[in-house]
Amino acid sequence: MAGVEGRVVIVTGAGGGLGRQHALLLASRGAKVVVNDLGGKRDGTGAGSQMADQVVTEIEEAGGAAAANYDDVATEEGGAAVVQTALDVFGQVDGVVNNAGILRDGTFHKMEYAAWDAVLKVHLYGTYNVTRAAWPHFREQSFGRVVMTTSTSGLYGNFGQTNYGAAKLGMVGLMNTLALEGKKYSIGANAVAPIAATRMTEDIFDEASLEKFDPAYVSPLVAHLCSEEMTDSGQIILAGGGNYARVAFSQSAGASFEDIPTPDAIAEQWDTITDMDGASLGMPFSG
Ligand code: NAI
Repeated sequence: MAGVEGRVVIVTGAGGGLGRQHALLLASRGAKVVVNDLGGKRDGTGAGSQMADQVVTEIEEAGGAAAANYDDVATEEGGAAVVQTALDVFGQVDGVVNNAGILRDGTFHKMEYAAWDAVLKVHLYGTYNVTRAAWPHFREQSFGRVVMTTSTSGLYGNFGQTNYGAAKLGMVGLMNTLALEGKKYSIGANAVAPIAATRMTEDIFDEASLEKFDPAYVSPLVAHLCSEEMTDSGQIILAGGGNYARVAFSQSAGASFEDIPTPDAIAEQWDTITDMDGASLGMPFSG
């Protein structure tokens, strides 16, 4: 199995937590890894080179190939610089794992613009910035793998995380269309929704769960999504604590009207429209 052997894969936010595990595993399977990390705190403040450097050292000591990058994915220049590191050091780019993330939680009632903006910038714009810079190279070489790191907070909602949830489901929206536009060029785009004990989740996991939700459980999935064998695109996979499952949008059989209905007619059919018995995978209305 070719897997990721010889492939150049960028992992953003790879200085700790899930990204570090992804980088270590990808490198151990023969990928050349760009370890990007801004090196800041959980809320996105601060910066430093130590986190990325440490992971690069770990990879190199284990006999793998890696290069550090400390750019901020939240800016267009930062995203371009991350991809440039892959080109400068390894001469190509084959995959982008969009993993960098921050938290600025608070109920919507208290959500200040700065907290909204900062979270959207890192997760959604960060994903755009790095993926957009890699995209022409993927097209040119007719190969590319994009991995989104979404979250149950976006897929299902989570109290106090409107900014984070919006960004995380935005990444899925981006993925859906990348999967369509990338198909012709053998570019795959898939998403992982992880559940892992990291500094991001340190407030919610107790001692017993720390081991169960080792972030290393998520990385084999990410490596598979980056592999040559991965021909599926547009999939969302939930992964944590050794469980892996697909999440998909589904659509009810619904109700149809010959003529433009009145609001009252919609109200009358509401139970039928929202009845998910016999629902199927979501598809746009045709015709
Ligand atoms: P983490 O805080 O350990 O990792 C995030 C990394 O991203 C940090 O090393 C940080 O320095 C880096 N980073 C932050 N902003 C950056 C920027 N602008 N540019 C470059 N690097 C930046 O947390 P964790 O849990 O490993 O998170 C990884 C990803 O997984 C995030 O996108 C997070 O939202 C997502 N996630 C994690 C879950 C979990 O259960 N741990 C659940 C759902 C999603």
